[in-house]
Amino acid sequence: MEFIIKSGNPEKQRTGCLVVGITEPRRLTPAAAEIDQAADRHISRILRKGDISGKPGQSLLLHNVPGTLADRVLLIGCGKERDLDDRQYRTIIGNAMNQLGQTGSIEAVSYLTELNVKGRDYYWKVRQAVEVAAAQAYEFREFKSKPAKDRKHLRRFTQMVASRRDLPLGMQAVADGKAIANGIRLTRDLANRPANICTPSYLAAQAQHLAKTHPAIKVTVLEEDALKKLKMHSLLSVAQGSAQPPRLITLEYRRGERNGRPVALVGKGITFDTGGISLKPAANMDEMKYDMCGAASVLGVFAAAAEMKLPINLVGVIPATENMPGSKATRPGDIYTSMSGQTIEVLNTDAEGRLILCDALTYSERYNPEVVIDIATLTGACVIALGKYASGLLANHNPLAKDLLSAGETSGDRAWQLPLWEEYQKALDSPFADMANVGGRDAGTITAACFLSRFAKKLHWAHLDIAGTAWISGDKKGATGRPVALLTQYLLDRCRKD
Ligand code: BES
Ligand code: MN
Ligand code: ZN
Repeated sequence: MEFIIKSGNPEKQRTGCLVVGITEPRRLTPAAAEIDQAADRHISRILRKGDISGKPGQSLLLHNVPGTLADRVLLIGCGKERDLDDRQYRTIIGNAMNQLGQTGSIEAVSYLTELNVKGRDYYWKVRQAVEVAAAQAYEFREFKSKPAKDRKHLRRFTQMVASRRDLPLGMQAVADGKAIANGIRLTRDLANRPANICTPSYLAAQAQHLAKTHPAIKVTVLEEDALKKLKMHSLLSVAQGSAQPPRLITLEYRRGERNGRPVALVGKGITFDTGGISLKPAANMDEMKYDMCGAASVLGVFAAAAEMKLPINLVGVIPATENMPGSKATRPGDIYTSMSGQTIEVLNTDAEGRLILCDALTYSERYNPEVVIDIATLTGACVIALGKYASGLLANHNPLAKDLLSAGETSGDRAWQLPLWEEYQKALDSPFADMANVGGRDAGTITAACFLSRFAKKLHWAHLDIAGTAWISGDKKGATGRPVALLTQYLLDRCRKD
């Protein structure tokens, strides 16, 4: 889809469809009022007849509105103007996109940018609309043998700003929105591919491909021998049950200050999680192809950051492996020494995410990062606690946690913080090793983060548990691309700060 920014009067736009808002109760937004005037009160009369009152979710398509140059005018219910918040604005845009998809217009000119959203400027409104439109247009048809029944798709979406002075900000918003949407699409595509295609070496090849398209990204892939030399026996303990060899993928992007400390992103890359010997039940196990969504989000963030040419230093570390119950697989009770030297009793082989992340966290120390953020579909408990709306956030450094929460609010890709108190640590006590890899039923998301925190003592570290947010289940099953929007917003915010 092509995104354009313009300024000008609605009645003068030659377009397939004009999109304007109606607020409650039966109020014309400025663009709707202008059209109304040009159309000799045509819109007011329709409102008076009660065909649309402005309630959220409503819409009304008008043809041949007199006094305009547009084929159609699409009225969109926007609710009460006072109530217009971030979420409502996104819903309005989503609704408009849906309706446009059904009109057969291949291009549209939208004045929804003039809606007053509390505390948000043109940049935010335009960028959000780009992201919503791109997300809604996403389809994953790589494994369908026949093309979709061809509906006419919206090809060009023009967003109007009030004056020429606002054009540069609008264009910046489009550029950033497109970069973020592209990152999100990459993440969704990688995640949606099945585990027989998307293996650890496939992920590594995809990272290398990304480095080819963006010369500012450098990728290194470590294979099994190198992991043994590094003494990553915790990571290797997960990989040993699988016929697929593991990989440690590292990415570096340096456009920030020379020798400036980087932000490090560590992404869980379990390309399929059977549970290992602690085998998972059969129901919905297919969804465990999504256990590499953390890894996919790291690649998505790199793609977005590179496209935006962000002036930052960024490092990515992706431990990638399958978790399979092969004859060489870890048995419950087996003990391994992690790269950090700490020993781990593996009481449950299904708690494998933390076993690969702990070595990746230790490895990240060599980049001397200012902050480290790991992203992982880590615990079913997080789905129970927060559902699909918020990612879980735990951190050993509160300023970092606050920045991430705030980036979540701005981007609409939100997180919610859980405590990482000392009291929870004792759940990991083991009679035989330095720690066990599981902490019992209580507070599963927190005890998983407690485990990771033992490998992040030297770091300013935050952990995002995306088990509930990275994909949706049911008949619309598919990856969401979260938390790429949150993380890119965090990086954008950092650029503005320094
Ligand atoms: N990848 C899963 C977590 C998961 C489960 C994410 C379901 C989304 C939906 C993770 O490796 C896992 O199996 N965690 C266990 C930990 C337990 C054994 C302590 C879990 O959550 O059950
Ligand atoms: Mn597991
Ligand atoms: Zn897992």
